Amino acid sequence: MKKRPIGIFDSGVGGLTVLREIEKILPCEDIIYFGDTARVPYGNKSTSTIKKFSTENTLFLLQKRVKMVVVACNTSSALALDYLQDIFNLPIIGVIEAGVRKAVEFSSKGKIGVIGTRSTIESGSYEGSILKLNRKLKVYNRTCPVFVPLVEEGILKGKLVDEAIKMYLDYFKRKKIDTIILGCTHYPLLKRQISGYLKNVFVVDSAKEVAGHARNILQNNDLLNPLKKEGRKRFYVSDESRNFINLARLFLKRKISKPRMINV
Ligand code: DGL
Repeated sequence: MKKRPIGIFDSGVGGLTVLREIEKILPCEDIIYFGDTARVPYGNKSTSTIKKFSTENTLFLLQKRVKMVVVACNTSSALALDYLQDIFNLPIIGVIEAGVRKAVEFSSKGKIGVIGTRSTIESGSYEGSILKLNRKLKVYNRTCPVFVPLVEEGILKGKLVDEAIKMYLDYFKRKKIDTIILGCTHYPLLKRQISGYLKNVFVVDSAKEVAGHARNILQNNDLLNPLKKEGRKRFYVSDESRNFINLARLFLKRKISKPRMINV
């Protein structure tokens, strides 16, 4: 069991931000990554659709005999994590809980902003998780739909990014938040620009936080891979997306092997 891979799924390429953080702190783990490129984006879809897709993605990873599933997609984590945890019998973690814990711990004035896709924000998952830890905190939410296509076009700085950031994040300046959670796989690539605009606001990268959470879960369940060699990474997608390899380089800052196409 310990030598089995970790499974990660996302709606597409964005979850590689999570893979990147996991391979940094768990370099000896084998990883199977599945990007549902045929059905991306998830960020504007309904709960029942996201549950269906997330279940199918998890079933695919189970076929690959993974020991744990990391739901890298914020939208799936927000809409389907509880559902997956109810129906499958292995550790399944999402990106929300770890990011929320960090934000609540570090918030100095108790004013937390959350940005994500439409479906993530409308689900109220982040807000609910924050208030569950501390009812007195103030939570401000905003959907930032233009950020995902900007990142996928490789546009990470410049005029367009500055305009989009101003349009979405000015609200948080007015609310005088002290902490902001990047509640979408793509937003860590805009972190520097977001920090530059929201000066003195603590920026929480959910991808980074979930990696530590994944390590704890493996440790607590005695599931860490004992082999001391670099883990093997395998990539699968549901559509032959020509751009996947190029984007992967942007997200992972290294080249990846050609992803295999599968039907979910
Ligand atoms: N992976 C999605 C998320 O983190 C963003 C892209 C999409 O809308 O599918 O919410």
